[in-house]
Amino acid sequence: MDNFTYQNGTKILFGRGTETEVGVETKKHSSKVLLHTGMGSIKRTGLFDAVVSSLEKAGVAWVELAGAQPNPRLSLVHKGIQMCREQKLDFILAVGGGSVIDSAKAIAAGVPYQGDVWDFFVGKAKVTSALPVGTVLTIPAAGSETSGSTVVTNEDGNYKKGLTSEEFLRPVFSILNPELTKTLPVYETAVGAADIMSHVFERYFTNSQNVDFSDRLCEAVLKGVIRNLPLVLAKPQDYDARAELMWLGTQAHSDLIGMGRVGDWATHDIEHELSGIYDVPHGAGLAVMFPAWMKFNLNHDLDRFCQLAVRVWNLEMDHKNPKKTALEGIAKLQGFWASCGLATSLEKLGIHDNRYAEMAEKATGKGKRKLGNFVKLEQKDVVSIYELASEKGASLGATR
Ligand code: NZQ
Ligand code: ZN
Repeated sequence: MDNFTYQNGTKILFGRGTETEVGVETKKHSSKVLLHTGMGSIKRTGLFDAVVSSLEKAGVAWVELAGAQPNPRLSLVHKGIQMCREQKLDFILAVGGGSVIDSAKAIAAGVPYQGDVWDFFVGKAKVTSALPVGTVLTIPAAGSETSGSTVVTNEDGNYKKGLTSEEFLRPVFSILNPELTKTLPVYETAVGAADIMSHVFERYFTNSQNVDFSDRLCEAVLKGVIRNLPLVLAKPQDYDARAELMWLGTQAHSDLIGMGRVGDWATHDIEHELSGIYDVPHGAGLAVMFPAWMKFNLNHDLDRFCQLAVRVWNLEMDHKNPKKTALEGIAKLQGFWASCGLATSLEKLGIHDNRYAEMAEKATGKGKRKLGNFVKLEQKDVVSIYELASEKGASLGATR
């Protein structure tokens, strides 16, 4: 097990009715806030009114910035920074999904910074302070509710990039009421769950040795999603299954399951190019790319792929042909995601042109950067993984 520091300071209020506490929690930090929201779902469900009523009861004034869209845009972040500065707002309350929360975090980092907030995303500057952020989460998916990360799309060139600051970007509190997720359409629910599982895979595929406890935590999260996602899709009003999925989403990305090991994260970088260029939902892109990444890297550590197949998918280990077991595990994953309505190839995701070389070049910074840790991927490897995710490439099997 590797050395690690673990500190996740986000206060979580979980369960029915917890959104009514948002005013009291916010008041501990501020009396005048930017209320950041998405494309309208919270207005239709009544959550917006509940949040506003709680804020006003607690004596918190608010100014709304609506319009954070899936794959949140830099232009709206700039607008939010300007609003906070002009109207002296010193706290950001994000009500919505990962996109709203990420947009809020980017605004929070940008307000005290003299230059362009995009500098942080391209590594030109480091975050040294930020406004505090609180969240009311409406979809189990990104895990942004306790993470120190934000992912934003710069419309100028369609660059989607992430920024991490463990110290400054973790929300001070997050409110998680599973009831609020009952209005989620089936597709968004499945897309979110694919992201949750992908956050586990990014940690599971590691070269760190003797990490049995965190392996088991990872496997528990995966098994939890495999059990509860079909229940939620079949019966959207099932509170208990919704609650499991919501807590699994937070745990998948709250760091605990990844302590003592180095994660990979190449597939997230590879997917961000799809979301940046084609505006596909993040989880939908991951559901296409992860099986391709797995097939490409299968031979790097066959035992680990077999462990996943046996422990998570309950497959019988074929000791004479471990590769067969490992590939069956990947096929199980693809079958599961397909049964939940997710695309299994780039074409099924609506991507028919071949911009693989361009995306690989962008992801690797013209080949200067290798992606991932489990296996360090060069630009040409990334092209091969996009190819493997296409219908033609899928028939080729593992290539490395
Ligand atoms: O905008 P509204 O109208 O709310 O609609 C949203 C959106 O269309 C809708 N929705 C959310 N809650 C709902 C609801 N509709 C009905 N009822 C509800 N209760 O769902 C759609 C998707 O929302 P979004 O916020 O985009 O989803 P998600 O939470 O999956 O966030 C995705 C973003 O998070 C980033 C992704 O890259 C992507 O941009 N990520 C952030 C991470 C982080 N900060 O740590 C890590 C992740 O790996 C991920 O990269
Ligand atoms: Zn993700």
